[in-house]
Amino acid sequence: MSSTLITNISEAFISDAAHTLVENAAILIEGQDIAWIGEAGQAPEADTVINAGQRAALPGWVDSHSHLVFAGDRSREFVARMAGQDYAAGGIAVTTKATRATTDYDLTRLVMGRTAEALAGGTTYLETKTGYGLNVEEEARHARIASTVVDQVTFLGAHLVPADMDAQEYTDLVCGEMLERVLPFVQFADVFCERGAFNEAQSRQVLAAGKDAGLGLRVHGNQLGPGPGTKLAVEFGAASVDHVNFLDEQDVAALAGSWADWDAQSRAGTAGTVATCLPACDLSTRMPFAPGRELIDAGVQIALASNCNPGTSYTSSMAFCVSTAVLQMHLSIEEAIVAATYGGALALGVQDRVGSLEVGKRADIQLLNAPSVAHLAYRPGMNLSGPVFRAGELAS
Ligand code: NIG
Repeated sequence: MSSTLITNISEAFISDAAHTLVENAAILIEGQDIAWIGEAGQAPEADTVINAGQRAALPGWVDSHSHLVFAGDRSREFVARMAGQDYAAGGIAVTTKATRATTDYDLTRLVMGRTAEALAGGTTYLETKTGYGLNVEEEARHARIASTVVDQVTFLGAHLVPADMDAQEYTDLVCGEMLERVLPFVQFADVFCERGAFNEAQSRQVLAAGKDAGLGLRVHGNQLGPGPGTKLAVEFGAASVDHVNFLDEQDVAALAGSWADWDAQSRAGTAGTVATCLPACDLSTRMPFAPGRELIDAGVQIALASNCNPGTSYTSSMAFCVSTAVLQMHLSIEEAIVAATYGGALALGVQDRVGSLEVGKRADIQLLNAPSVAHLAYRPGMNLSGPVFRAGELAS
């Protein structure tokens, strides 16, 4: 097996629970995995040596929430929102119309282009959702296309009730034929549990059907107002509840309770429901920021994700999410990086494989064009992405 040593790293942020930072570091890659990490002076020999030029290193981002399977443009809706209009879930229908009219070839190219942009920004593990098809054929097509490009696919047929359908009739379809057709391509089922989308009873039905089908679960919850989404996610043992802008005390307590059997230091035990905060979406919809600080303080494991989509968050920049979480949500730089790497991996159930720079994990490593990881927040909006390694290979 060939080996590569990345050396002359100014600092390597491991993204472990102790927030370990190794100064003057080196990382040995063997095959697809990290075989050694430590001070450069102690590094083993390798077939190939790469000089990191005093760049900082950290794990590749794990983006656990995106909606990349779409066509069309909604910049006018964004402009209207900046002029004072509220975000309404109805905009989803605009994207659905444009996406349905796009060929397999063009849609695949669009998803590939967005994935390449994310990779260039340091994202080495990526989830995306269906949810702009909203009928059986289109949801199955979007799931199939997504599965050929990204790491994990979430079925979000329950994104919006199409205008020409009765809500219960559509929910039955999502839980029946649609679920059956997407099943070969997806790992998770999701529901937009919100006023204007799916109510509590319909959300329960979707989650129960997803669980019966053997899928992991997640919920779009408490994005636009208070509601049952977060409590439902915990009740169903969902891997994550995403958005979480409008939480009450019971929501936070329910989330914290789900982590009662988890040892945060050793990162062992039974994982609970990750609260996925989406700071770029909060900015773009002018919503109150998700209470990331309070959630961490309450003992909840959080993730940061891009929520890249044409309606509420048209960016795949995880670095932007990290800097916003530090500057606006009062996370420390270390907490924000952990949430955008290990936290995302927890939300996707792949924390044993990706999300931190630890021996035996996949060698997903990004080098920053900066001497310390603090620059991610210190220089907001700057493109600091240097070389990106994915599964041991230089990928961008
Ligand atoms: O996560 N909340 C629902 N779904 C997307 C927005 C979809 C859209 O407006 O196109 C989100 O923000």
